[in-house]
Amino acid sequence: MRRTLFYTVFLCILLVFALTACRTSVENTAGTDSASQQTASTTDMRETGTTQQTDTDISVNTEETSNGSKILVVYFSRTGEQYDVGVIDKGNTAIVAEIISEETGADTFEILPADDYYPYTYDELTDVALQEQNEGARPAIAGTIPDLSEYDTIFIGAPVWWGDWPMIMYTFFEENADALSGKTLIPFSTHAGSGLSGFDTKLSNACPDSTVLAGLGFRGSDAQENTEAVRENVRDWISELGL
Ligand SMILES: Cc1cc2nc3c(=O)[nH]c(=O)nc-3n(C[C@H](O)[C@H](O)[C@H](O)COP(=O)(O)O)c2cc1C
Repeated sequence: MRRTLFYTVFLCILLVFALTACRTSVENTAGTDSASQQTASTTDMRETGTTQQTDTDISVNTEETSNGSKILVVYFSRTGEQYDVGVIDKGNTAIVAEIISEETGADTFEILPADDYYPYTYDELTDVALQEQNEGARPAIAGTIPDLSEYDTIFIGAPVWWGDWPMIMYTFFEENADALSGKTLIPFSTHAGSGLSGFDTKLSNACPDSTVLAGLGFRGSDAQENTEAVRENVRDWISELGL
């Protein structure tokens, strides 16, 4: 009887060890798989725009930011029906803006229209945006712009609309021309194939007294569906910028 009890206890201990070993091995395998998937999907899909900036600008910027200056991410973004991604409840540009903020510790400010007449459906939105562009419209911005004097470096992002910044972004550039003067501006876009679409040159033209660094374009569908790869590209980009 005592011998039977001894064998039963011994077998139970063996079983516990065997189960623990199995569990550890499954967890480790899963971890390796997800790491290798992440590496495989982190392809370089960055689409850098042209820039007239030199390395000197970037290294000066590095010094400034390492001295503790604050960074701001200003962006415009739409939800509803969008190209290639269906109906979304978080805009493509908003996702990239959030990643930049997380990776740099930047504050964020979303530009919202004072009168949001933009349609929900993609086709209707493209018509309204084209009309705005043809008219050179300057849609009013809702709310109060943050105090830009607190920031030396400002990322500015928006979707490409008909090969250009949405017109509301020019409202922001023009109404804040003085406050943006002397700042370091870094443009980014989300798009469906057009890349940065000259956002950097257009930003330089709109804000001639600012320093515009190398911008980056991200595919809107990647922002929605390939977020970790976008994050890797953001990390590489801000490292190249010296931030
Ligand atoms: C009005 C309008 C015009 C667009 N024009 C372009 C374009 O010229 N080139 C391009 O690559 N994508 C274009 N797109 C696609 C958007 O740039 C893309 O879907 C973007 O990621 C949307 O970002 P959001 O969700 O932040 O608004 C356009 C989309 C809209 C709604």
